[in-house]
Amino acid sequence: MSGYRCSSCGKSYSLDALLPHCSCGGLFDIEHAGPAFNLELVDKDEWSMFRYRRFMPLDNELWRDLSLGEGLSPTVRLDERTLVKMDYMMPTLSFKDRGAAALIWLCKTIGVRKVAQDSSGNAGNAVAAYCARAGIACEIFVPEATSPKKIAMIRAHGASVTIVRGTRDQTADACREKVAREGLYYASHVYNPFFYEGTKTYLYEIFEQRKALPANLVIPLGNGTLFLGVMKALAELKSAGAIARYPRIYAVQSERCAPFKAAVEGGLSSVPAVDITQTMAEGIAIGRPMRGEAILKLIYEHGVRVITAKEDSIAAAREYLARMGIYAEHTSAANFAAYQELMAGTEAPEGDTIIPVCGAGLKSDK
Ligand SMILES: Cc1ncc(COP(=O)(O)O)c(C=O)c1O
Ligand SMILES: [Zn+2]
Repeated sequence: MSGYRCSSCGKSYSLDALLPHCSCGGLFDIEHAGPAFNLELVDKDEWSMFRYRRFMPLDNELWRDLSLGEGLSPTVRLDERTLVKMDYMMPTLSFKDRGAAALIWLCKTIGVRKVAQDSSGNAGNAVAAYCARAGIACEIFVPEATSPKKIAMIRAHGASVTIVRGTRDQTADACREKVAREGLYYASHVYNPFFYEGTKTYLYEIFEQRKALPANLVIPLGNGTLFLGVMKALAELKSAGAIARYPRIYAVQSERCAPFKAAVEGGLSSVPAVDITQTMAEGIAIGRPMRGEAILKLIYEHGVRVITAKEDSIAAAREYLARMGIYAEHTSAANFAAYQELMAGTEAPEGDTIIPVCGAGLKSDK
């Protein structure tokens, strides 16, 4: 049986709990005793991320009515040491579709009728699209700086949009107030651990496509939905004996919003309040990551290096990618900008690196 377990007090809840978090305030993790990861158990006839459903904590066929063919993005070599995984090739043009497809599968399974969620845009796009597919009403909160195209897309899927005057963190506060006031289901990609059950397929795919992992992975780090999914998948692959060790992991923050960098530099066990300024990497502009302590613990445990993207190198990185045929959004170009700086320095890693192109360029054009 699968269920939630509070990350703070350890209390157990069933997956049909409608609460955003434990009564003690702690966030839920998922407990699931499924089969060990094994390529033999991948459903090779299913051409979406649901080919990995044997390793996910639900066992029903409702995903068939929801799937938009998300996942299975190609991995493309850019140069001798650099590969990109094309996660902008998704139904709503970002990697968030992986998490949203899994989360809305849960919502459909437990009979949720209406959800609310806050987002810098891409997760809102993804949740709105899968809610449309599932016939679930949806309200998305976004900060005022969100790209207009993302807002238009959310509305096109039939969701209502509340634009919050303030930062991404204040947007989350506004959404949570409404969730608490009206008892809505909080389909948060940060609170609800089902989202990570989807994002973990990013790593499964790399392993299935290449039969091994690269020496290095670059992963964006705002709230850490891809980061946590990847770390979960790595733990699963390691305990299944499919890999002997983790790749070296580089987590990317914006130099204008880098709470994890500040934590690591200060040797802290919790994420400090940091001064932030507006960045074109809107997707990683998270000053108060709600799973900060869990992420920090993983950073220390696995020697993850936190690197930053300089604001004035994001546009050039985006242009570089475009000249390679890849039109990425600014937040994705930030991954590349940080990687280029790493490779130009004295701590450039050996071996291949895979970098995600997580969002499509058209979405962040004004
Ligand atoms: C394109 C893109 N990349 C990276 C991220 C960062 O994801 P997370 O905040 O889950 O770490 C986001 C989040 O919205 C995004 O839209
Ligand atoms: Zn608790």
